Amino acid sequence: MSYIPSSPLIYIFLSLTCQTVPGRDAQGFIVPQDPVLPAGRSLLVNCSTSCPHPELITLETSLPKEVIDEDQGWAAFRLSNVTGDSKIICSAFCNGSQMTSSSNITVYRFPELVELDLLPRWQPVGENLTLQCHVWGGAPRAQLTLVLLRGEEELSRQPAVGEPAEGTATVLAGRGDYGAKFTCRAELDLRPRGLGLFQNTSAPRQLRTFVLPMAAPRLVAPLSLEVGTSWPVDCTLDGLFPVSEAQVQLALGDQMLNPAVSIHGDTLRATATVIARADQEGQCPALAFLGPILNLSETNVTEGSKVNVSCTAGPRVQVMLDGDLARAPGEPAQLQVTATEGDDGRYFFCNAILEVDGEILHRNVTAQLRVLYGPKIDPAKCPQRLAWKDRTSHILQCEARGNPVPQLQCLHEGSRREVPIGTPFLVKLHHNGTYHCQAVSPRGTYTLLVVMHVQDRNSFVVTILIGVLVILGVVTAIVALMCIFGKQTRSGFYHVNQQDTSLPLRPVQPKEAVELEQS
Ligand SMILES: *[C@@H]1O[C@H](CO)[C@@H](O)[C@H](O)[C@H]1NC(C)=O
Ligand SMILES: *[C@@H]1O[C@H](CO)[C@@H](O)[C@H](O)[C@H]1NC(C)=O
Ligand SMILES: *[C@@H]1O[C@H](CO)[C@@H](O)[C@H](O)[C@H]1NC(C)=O
Ligand SMILES: *[C@@H]1O[C@H](CO)[C@@H](O)[C@H](O)[C@H]1NC(C)=O
Ligand SMILES: *[C@@H]1O[C@H](CO)[C@@H](O)[C@H](O)[C@H]1NC(C)=O
Ligand SMILES: *[C@@H]1O[C@H](CO)[C@@H](O)[C@H](O)[C@H]1NC(C)=O
Ligand SMILES: *[C@@H]1O[C@H](CO)[C@@H](O)[C@H](O)[C@H]1NC(C)=O
Ligand SMILES: *[C@@H]1O[C@H](CO)[C@@H](O)[C@H](O)[C@H]1NC(C)=O
Ligand SMILES: *[C@@H]1O[C@H](CO)[C@@H](O)[C@H](O)[C@H]1NC(C)=O
Ligand SMILES: *[C@@H]1O[C@H](CO)[C@@H](O)[C@H](O)[C@H]1NC(C)=O
Ligand SMILES: *[C@@H]1O[C@H](CO)[C@@H](O)[C@H](O)[C@H]1NC(C)=O
Repeated sequence: MSYIPSSPLIYIFLSLTCQTVPGRDAQGFIVPQDPVLPAGRSLLVNCSTSCPHPELITLETSLPKEVIDEDQGWAAFRLSNVTGDSKIICSAFCNGSQMTSSSNITVYRFPELVELDLLPRWQPVGENLTLQCHVWGGAPRAQLTLVLLRGEEELSRQPAVGEPAEGTATVLAGRGDYGAKFTCRAELDLRPRGLGLFQNTSAPRQLRTFVLPMAAPRLVAPLSLEVGTSWPVDCTLDGLFPVSEAQVQLALGDQMLNPAVSIHGDTLRATATVIARADQEGQCPALAFLGPILNLSETNVTEGSKVNVSCTAGPRVQVMLDGDLARAPGEPAQLQVTATEGDDGRYFFCNAILEVDGEILHRNVTAQLRVLYGPKIDPAKCPQRLAWKDRTSHILQCEARGNPVPQLQCLHEGSRREVPIGTPFLVKLHHNGTYHCQAVSPRGTYTLLVVMHVQDRNSFVVTILIGVLVILGVVTAIVALMCIFGKQTRSGFYHVNQQDTSLPLRPVQPKEAVELEQS
């Protein structure tokens, strides 16, 4: 409130009130009170007082501020670049005593990234699956909640804690989850502060679940075939889920058959006609198998973390993981690796082998591991001592490695000037010096020093040039003097020819040399 005395009467009245209770009744106000605003905005703050003659109205804040306007009893300030929560205080002096009023600024920002961690490539039905969600950024954290969803169904709801905030949910995988889409949602609820409910949702991840059959396939075929006659064989497999993903191979002895496959519920039926040969008497055709399923506990890891790799296929199927056989057919093959940078991009290879009466059926799958490492510069790939001549073309060789791929630049120690890497450039004298070659990735910075010594070619050339010009001058002078001397002896009298003598004595070498040195 401002009191601008407009008449002597009011002025007297005010003086009287102030005299009776000097400055005590006066109040300070701050507008806005406890504002909520998006990060990075500017804010107008009005400090006012009911004191009739306030002195020194100020705004105490750690934020950059400027006075916008002021008048009797108030002052308005603009706070710029409000990026975090803070407390601001208006202060004024009323008849010698200070009064203050404060306001808390709350800054809100949306999460930068909401991400649901990768799901297993295949999830067995009847086993628990843990979903994990990570949220980077987002403020105020007290108003931020992580929600995990299957389709539209809420699986869990947790407050955001830590950076990144992590939310988890456990679901018992069922057949119904085959193809289910999971998402993670960050909810910033500013409704209690007079604003809305803001939601940011992760990209969905789809799950595939499976069930392996408990029993071996049932085969309907004649026990013994009459050689040369054709017979139908019929192979059925129950309890395989999802049947649509199954691979069917049918063999009779070493003879691969091309079966017709039909699906009824969870039952898969493969039928084919065989013509029995003499050597196949008593042999049985079979079989279908699912997979193999190659599973990495994590596909995207940091250097040094342990990764479990497992490979499974159906009953009776022998799996081989990276060349190592599982203990027995039907058992999974497992291995654990400690991720090194050399494992970045490594493929794991699982080979499922089913032996049916001497016939071997193969099916292979691979899975790739990504390892985050670096940045690094291999000193062998980045020569650290270079000696080059001025005004010659060269290439600065340097390579950095890492995942993610680092940015590499070489900066001159003094001028911070960048020198091109891997492309030819004209070496100049100013390139002489020490360079900081820096590989930068989100995982850090690695620096290697490179000393480039540039030899001055100019001084050498100039010396020779001056030498040549001096010799030329001396020779010309001698020749000129000889001419004059010859003329003198012939004519018998001495005549100075200004032009003749001055011309050869006018070599311009100092000027030329200076020009060359400057260039
Ligand atoms: C600041 O507040 C005072 C008292 O409420 C008012 O008179 C004045 O106009 C305000 N100034 C601005 C710039 O809003
Ligand atoms: C200020 O306060 C002093 C006593 O603390 C009092 O004597 C004086 O009259 C007051 N002045 C005004 C303008 O209120
Ligand atoms: C705003 O503040 C941040 C850090 O508080 C700073 O990095 C940025 O340069 C500032 N921006 C402006 C426009 O002042
Ligand atoms: C401002 O925040 C502090 C805690 O940070 C709290 O104690 C105080 O009561 C708040 N003030 C107002 C005016 O909300
Ligand atoms: C799945 O987890 C729940 C608790 O979250 C537990 O009660 C249940 O036994 C687990 N089921 C399996 C098959 O591990
Ligand atoms: C988060 O949601 C808000 C609105 O709810 C939107 O303005 C913002 O762009 C979203 N942020 C991201 C990273 O998607
Ligand atoms: C794959 O690995 C994850 C994590 O170790 C595990 O939860 C999941 O059950 C595994 N899936 C299969 C098919 O082995
Ligand atoms: C692995 O992590 C990197 C960096 O964190 C990310 O860019 C990449 O998308 C991730 N890949 C997968 C498959 O999650
Ligand atoms: C890997 O397997 C071992 C035991 O086989 C287990 O203790 C460990 O927790 C597993 N690690 C991961 C990342 O799944
Ligand atoms: C699977 O891998 C094995 C071993 O490397 C190979 O002999 C076989 O031909 C492969 N089978 C298929 C279908 O790729
Ligand atoms: C080139 O730089 C080195 C130091 O890096 C310095 O000793 C040398 O004098 C410089 N040479 C010239 C011609 O500037």
